[in-house]
Amino acid sequence: MTLKPDPTPGDTDWFVHDRFGMFIHWGLYALPARHEWVKSNERISTADYETYFKHFDPDLYDPQLWADAAAAAGMKYFVVTTKHHEGFCLWDTALTDYKATNTPYGKDLLRPMVDAFRGKDLKVGFYHSLLDWHHPDYTADICHPMRDNSEYIAADSRRKLERYSEYLHGQSRELMSDFGKVDILWYDFSINATEKLPGKGKDVWQSEELIKLVRDLQPGIIINDRLEIDQDIKTPEQFQPRSWVKVDGKPVVWEACQTFSGSWGYHRDEESWKSLDVLIKMLIDSVSKGGNLLLNVGPTGRGEFDSRALDRLAGMGEWMKRHSRSIYGCTQAPDEFRAPEDCRYTYNPITNRLYLHVFSWPYRHIHLPNMVHRVEYAQLLNDASEVKMRTSIPEESYGAGVEVREKTLLTLELPVKQPSVTVPVIELFLK
Ligand code: GLC
Repeated sequence: MTLKPDPTPGDTDWFVHDRFGMFIHWGLYALPARHEWVKSNERISTADYETYFKHFDPDLYDPQLWADAAAAAGMKYFVVTTKHHEGFCLWDTALTDYKATNTPYGKDLLRPMVDAFRGKDLKVGFYHSLLDWHHPDYTADICHPMRDNSEYIAADSRRKLERYSEYLHGQSRELMSDFGKVDILWYDFSINATEKLPGKGKDVWQSEELIKLVRDLQPGIIINDRLEIDQDIKTPEQFQPRSWVKVDGKPVVWEACQTFSGSWGYHRDEESWKSLDVLIKMLIDSVSKGGNLLLNVGPTGRGEFDSRALDRLAGMGEWMKRHSRSIYGCTQAPDEFRAPEDCRYTYNPITNRLYLHVFSWPYRHIHLPNMVHRVEYAQLLNDASEVKMRTSIPEESYGAGVEVREKTLLTLELPVKQPSVTVPVIELFLK
């Protein structure tokens, strides 16, 4: 039996089939190019941060190129920051002047992006920050750029968080009304209180009402888990869960969100870029545990994906072209199948095929426990070349335990040379 999470209000059927999406973090922080939290990290005042608003002019922005790159990488949906914590809005919202149309660029950035991605058949997702370091009624908290500024904190008594939450609801209404069908709404995030400063969570965001508003306008939409009320998906961030994500002991729909290099916004000098090998393994690892991967790009202030991102996206596309069959429509393999060392299984319950992803190419043989008489045919997925199978001879099973030695190990005979793909996959047609 494959694990299946209980149904939630949103439609996750397409989501657990598609498995691979693109996150996009884009805002004024692309200009300082040293983390999307730069305003908070460097305690920059709103007056000083204004310089990025005044200079924001992504003249090379062509969302068609972005959508092409995402589709070619094998991504099936995208989630873009309509507003990040800095408060800057990519669309022409009626509720603030702090938006793309008032920068030197002068145009709505969101609408053409939605059109371009939709045109490539990608589903549409909006990330929307619950935090807002620009809104006049937004009080200090542990994350706020002015958290050490006693004047700002003293003025908090005059700030009205209810007005901020009205703004949040109003903007959510716009986003849910003006862009056609929206498939995902990814709110971010709720804040813990500290000794000195209060936190912010469902009471401040008015999460229940917000969820109702969104569901009324976009039935079927997927909402994430950061409003302090879990909805359709859990969103582990910057780590790979050790097993299928569970809540109260029950498996849930989940999506790991990951960066190329650590920060989400464009970071010029970051050197911690993940290799193609690691990125592909992260995708496989997620699906092998019943999850999705949302992989982030931080476009530049000129409006482009930089060469490091394009390079990796192209590499993932090259792999996906021949291996997407082990990703789309796949999930964690039933319990009885235990992947051998350095391998991950994914499983397609419709076709009844098991996919063995080989993370470290061994010398000539892989031995599969519990698989004798269960596999009808095996082939390398990249070129459909047969992988011969036989029952293990006893000598090969030394150390594997007495029971296993009794002819339950199926041996795959591999070429000595690893096929020239980043992660080779063996497709096992089960009986
Ligand atoms: C965090 C960060 C943020 C990023 C997000 C993505 O909550 O605040 O910068 O947008 O995670 O998951």
